Amino acid sequence: MIIGNEKDVTEAVLKEYQRIENPRLREIVAALIRHLHGFAREVKLTEEEFQAAIGYIVALGKHTTATHNEAVLMSGSLGFSTLICLLNNGNRGQTETDANLLGPFWRMDSPPTKNGDSIVRSPTPGAVLFVDAWFRDTKGMPIQGAEVDVWHSSTEGFYENQDPVQADMNLRGKFTTDKAGHISFRSVKPAGYPIPIDGPVGALLRAAGRHNMRPAHLHFLVYKPGFKTLISQIYDPLDKNIDTDVQFGVTQHLIGNYIKHDEACTRAPDVKPPWYSIEHSFVVESGTARLPKPPITGKAHGERPQIPHLEAV
Ligand SMILES: [Fe+2]
Repeated sequence: MIIGNEKDVTEAVLKEYQRIENPRLREIVAALIRHLHGFAREVKLTEEEFQAAIGYIVALGKHTTATHNEAVLMSGSLGFSTLICLLNNGNRGQTETDANLLGPFWRMDSPPTKNGDSIVRSPTPGAVLFVDAWFRDTKGMPIQGAEVDVWHSSTEGFYENQDPVQADMNLRGKFTTDKAGHISFRSVKPAGYPIPIDGPVGALLRAAGRHNMRPAHLHFLVYKPGFKTLISQIYDPLDKNIDTDVQFGVTQHLIGNYIKHDEACTRAPDVKPPWYSIEHSFVVESGTARLPKPPITGKAHGERPQIPHLEAV
């Protein structure tokens, strides 16, 4: 159709994309057009602002490399990743859920590790942490034989795939749940870490006077056919950024019960106090077991990256 005025544009575009055969894709594209056009009308977007927005999208791509995914960071920084997670889990948002953000650092082939073993694979400073986790179905029955990937950052705030100093697969492991649906492992207590701010995400955080820290957390990915793959994180309630996570990932249900021990350690004689333990029970919903695509695939080389900290205003 020939466009006569600004109102005609939306109608013309919607009409053209009605021809998409796949009904779900047709629904998504139509809603995207309506909301995108509605957004421009609502804020009366100027031509300069439109150019800036295009530049922002280009910058998301340019800042994405084999070891960094700026689009994942932006989605998290806008709370969009958490919204998608909560809309799609916990009986589609009806009940509490242990599901949480995947984040960019998951790797496909974590080393199989026996229950009780350590995931510290190269010298890593920090207090010792023992983790016990149980995995149950929605009826409370233990899930045996699930594969559980575990990964977390070092106390210096780096995952091994972004940190050339750490051994390959340091602070990662793949465990298998036993009859009680249980896994356990030894590691070091993770620290919170800054997200990179040299791209468009940094510009947005500065504009809003936000800091760029994620509170300390452990990541889990639970895979067993017959169950919806559970992606989760357990957060440290004593982290000073627990209620201002730059990625909006912290949910009430995923606050961990870290216990600090000042007594001698009975679990391993080499451990000096203080040491920490954490226990957590996860509920895994029924559904289709599907592994995500790793957001990054590269491993950092050369110097350890320097990621500046932004102070919140
Ligand atoms: Fe993380």
